[in-house]
Amino acid sequence: MYIERFVLRKPGIAVHGGAGEWSLDSEGEKRVSKRLREALEAGFSILVGGGSAIDAVTEAVSVLEDSGIFNAGSGSALNSAGYGELDAGVMYGPTMFSGAVAAVRVKNPVRLARAVMERTSHVILCCDGAETFAKVLGLGLEAFKPGEEQVRRYRDLISRIDGEGIPPYVRANREIMKRILETGIHGTVGAVAIDSEGRLAAATSTGGIWLKLPGRVGDTPIPGAGFYADREIACSATGVGEAIMTLSLCRSIALVSRFMGSVSSAITYSFEELENLPRFKGYAHAGVIVLTKNSDLYMAFNTKGMARGYISTDQGSPFTALNKL
Ligand code: GLY
Repeated sequence: MYIERFVLRKPGIAVHGGAGEWSLDSEGEKRVSKRLREALEAGFSILVGGGSAIDAVTEAVSVLEDSGIFNAGSGSALNSAGYGELDAGVMYGPTMFSGAVAAVRVKNPVRLARAVMERTSHVILCCDGAETFAKVLGLGLEAFKPGEEQVRRYRDLISRIDGEGIPPYVRANREIMKRILETGIHGTVGAVAIDSEGRLAAATSTGGIWLKLPGRVGDTPIPGAGFYADREIACSATGVGEAIMTLSLCRSIALVSRFMGSVSSAITYSFEELENLPRFKGYAHAGVIVLTKNSDLYMAFNTKGMARGYISTDQGSPFTALNKL
């Protein structure tokens, strides 16, 4: 597990675009960095204008969803039946209110998650009910439509697993997941922010895992698993959702930090637990960004790389990276 620590000056914001291989040529790296910077700048301009951390993370994640180059929003993975089912969650530290949507077919699920948090008494809405909720509120959210690249990738994956004449979705999807993970295409997106009042927030959004079974829900819309924020800490996670949700990775990091008094020890401990889960042995790939009330930022992953970046008050321009420093 690789971990970095940066000391920010509030207000500040950090984002990630997924943990994985990120073995891109220099043009590809530039494209990813540009999108990360755009998301950071969108969130940071809200913070410097006196806006709240929850507005900043919602906006930053929405920009990443619109970029089409991460596995979220427009760039979402397709399930085994060839359509997208997107997940997202947001949480506001001071109130610990959270909202999430699962298996929805809208282009910006993070905005819908925010509406669940603010306009309902629920925490998670899924599927048709979540989409009806969006319509009833007149949120005007565009439907998710896969692009040509996603359709091409879907066809390619399907052609490689359909050798024995049985529908791919009845195959052992654990094997499929392993093969897909080897191609390093995780690209869930997320953000954590601290505003000038010291309020923390987190948001995460994803298309999930390629060729997942229709109806599969990952860690991303589960509070405490794919995202978490309280008065002390905010966390957004990326990686193999089934492993992350088994341990409530973000909440685990928050709790262990409180009891050990060290965020980096808590991250190390939680990743060790994750990697030792027998069911996911060898492929419990994950990454997290964690921000504390003291503006300490930790970025950690057990993959080759993680697209990530941050900006805070004492910086002229955003920092971004894909691989280990
Ligand atoms: N972490 C994203 C997912 O597994 O759905």
